[in-house]
Amino acid sequence: MSKIFTPTRLGRIEIANRLVMAPMTRSRADDDGVQGDLAVTYYAQRAGAGLVISEGVFPTFGGKGYVHTPGIETEAQLEAWKAAVDAVHDAGGRIFMQLMHTGRISHPLLLPNGELPVAPSAIPPKGQTWTSEGQKDFVTPRELSLAEIKHTIQSYRVATRNALAVGFDGVELHGASGYLPEQFLSSGTNQRTDDYGGSVANRARFMLDVLTAMIEEAGPGRVGLKISPEMNFNDISDANPQETYSYLVEHLKASDMAYLHVALFGAAVDYHELLRPRFAGSYIIGGGLTQASAEELLKEGKADAVVFGTAFLANPDLPERFRRNAPLNEPDRSTFYAPGAKGYIDYPTLAA
Ligand SMILES: Cc1cc2nc3c(=O)[nH]c(=O)nc-3n(C[C@H](O)[C@H](O)[C@H](O)COP(=O)(O)O)c2cc1C
Repeated sequence: MSKIFTPTRLGRIEIANRLVMAPMTRSRADDDGVQGDLAVTYYAQRAGAGLVISEGVFPTFGGKGYVHTPGIETEAQLEAWKAAVDAVHDAGGRIFMQLMHTGRISHPLLLPNGELPVAPSAIPPKGQTWTSEGQKDFVTPRELSLAEIKHTIQSYRVATRNALAVGFDGVELHGASGYLPEQFLSSGTNQRTDDYGGSVANRARFMLDVLTAMIEEAGPGRVGLKISPEMNFNDISDANPQETYSYLVEHLKASDMAYLHVALFGAAVDYHELLRPRFAGSYIIGGGLTQASAEELLKEGKADAVVFGTAFLANPDLPERFRRNAPLNEPDRSTFYAPGAKGYIDYPTLAA
């Protein structure tokens, strides 16, 4: 029997099946970080997931890293999100908001008043990013002061409050992909000598402080964390990732969390084996899964729920397709981040 379609609980959240839609940036918001009506349709179409995780949302404008990404700070942003959340709930689904502060993975052209991106240390990432003026090299970010770190933590708290106020069932901290929390965590991007840098305990402090603030706002069982150890993305590196992630996960308070979300991308080490025994709460796995591999993970008890990204993007009715063993639509990469309805809300569903 399929385990995918059995209900379970992630922290305080009951989910009808174990399929989770991965957080995916789709860059359809306006220049003020406000979602349009298309986003309402997009999320409602995918409400058959046990849990939908929203695309990465910047908690404050200084955390924006990509064109046309949404925020959760202004009235207009909140109102737009409320429409999407209501639509998912009306369709019987559950939805978390992912909070994503990109730190140094940004550019003055994406930030208010042409400000420099911020980071734990003034170390530029290698590579380029897409801006309103085309491809640009990353710049050297500005090191956050201690007071600004506290302020940034506070911005996650307020964003959590705002997300819950518009009806999200919970919030997920984006601790992966080389963005701000992982920049603090990783020795390659953090050369601070205060309480937020140096030892692994100090490097993990930012992520743990942010989670504490989010949990204080949301209450226990409504905050998830996404990590991707050794994901080779956004020029992130750490001298001893096994030690770093073991420390981090051991210091999460499982009873306060909704889940730990671990997405692996070709790491040589089996981080699930390393991390799962260190976390007593719900453990969800993503990254390159198929229906068969997901079913296997659930049956073997290696995961409590399974996370699908591109397959959900291209198949709004993914649960139904899995139920019927139906073929899947192929994702069209050219429209992942392109404006408009094409490749966003027009993927076909199965004929009834
Ligand atoms: C278009 C696109 C946008 C993404 N944006 C985000 C994001 O905003 N936050 C995040 O944590 N991961 C993001 N991801 C990564 C996915 O959450 C997921 O980890 C990844 O797609 C691997 O799962 P898959 O193999 O099932 O697609 C994105 C992936 C895609 C394809």
